[in-house]
Amino acid sequence: MQRTPSPAKIDHAASILRAGGIVAFPTETVYGLGANALDGVAVARIYAVKGRPATSPLIVHVASVAMAKSLVASWPEIAECLAGKFWPGPLTLVLPKRHAIPDIVTAGLGTVGLRMPAHPVALALIRAASVPLAAPSANRFTELSPTTARHVRQSLGGDVDLILDAGPSEVGIESTVVSLVGSRPVLLRPGGISRKELESVIGPLSPAKDLEEGPHPSPGMHARHYSPRTSLLLVSDGELPDEGHGIYLRRTNPARVRDDLRSKSDSAAFGITIIQMPTEPAKYAARLYEQLHLADDAQVDWIAVDLPPMTGEWEAIHDRLRRAAGKSG
Ligand code: TXA
Ligand code: MG
Repeated sequence: MQRTPSPAKIDHAASILRAGGIVAFPTETVYGLGANALDGVAVARIYAVKGRPATSPLIVHVASVAMAKSLVASWPEIAECLAGKFWPGPLTLVLPKRHAIPDIVTAGLGTVGLRMPAHPVALALIRAASVPLAAPSANRFTELSPTTARHVRQSLGGDVDLILDAGPSEVGIESTVVSLVGSRPVLLRPGGISRKELESVIGPLSPAKDLEEGPHPSPGMHARHYSPRTSLLLVSDGELPDEGHGIYLRRTNPARVRDDLRSKSDSAAFGITIIQMPTEPAKYAARLYEQLHLADDAQVDWIAVDLPPMTGEWEAIHDRLRRAAGKSG
């Protein structure tokens, strides 16, 4: 059942934000942990609560293109074009920042990541607070992102001032991050908007490795990021049951997964739960973190994931699965 916080609750959350508090709120990608992006002290609390290193910049959430423009030193044609096509939506645009944004928000970078989320509660909250909201995903550093308010409570619990619950996030993985700072746009993080969708509007994207080397070539993209607590094993050699894309959970020795899963009918006897995942990327993404959270909750010994096809439409999912398995992207 879809829940929606009342207007009074959203106003209450907005007053907490204006007073320097931190509020977890739903977006279409994952739940965010928000603070007034213009209040460095409030933003510092986000880093403290998450245990996030100061080198990882935060995304600033806006409720309109006008609000985005007020935060950047320049708003190029390509930003207008991408925002026009994909906002509100799961696309973060990195642009030169204005001084009004405290350095702590951007981890000292001269750029800021901006996104207008496609979620009525997130937009209502930003509008009610009348300030942009700096918000990373509402989980402790390195953990899985939350796609429900329950996930937020489990990870951050009483450390946040309020959690707005609007049911599960529809997209289920984080936004695509694109830098518009250089001469050509660069994909920094694949996500809810696919490379193909972006390229259909702006032409070829440069891969992130084309970025000039520096202290933050791809800030915040740590190898063990987006990880369940349970160890995760990627399997792709076709020895597993091949209908759909399964997440296989079991309680014993991961080394035996291939043998034991040859016959699906044997799997229950080995204590393995087989979850059939959707074969369509967007539907798969919408369920992925929920399943990984469930595996953590069930305290299974490991998670085995059948790798989806190596095609572009699965790029963001491959990225998150590699990270969840502790391999760099
Ligand atoms: O879907 C999402 O993006 C969610 C929801 C809450 O909006 N947020 C999210 O935030 O995933 P977080 O903090 O977990 O990830 C932020 C990503 C990181 O990969 C970071 O490197 C990148 O955005 N980022 C933010 N500001 C940046 C900047 N100025 N330059 C380059 N990358 C930036
Ligand atoms: Mg995160």
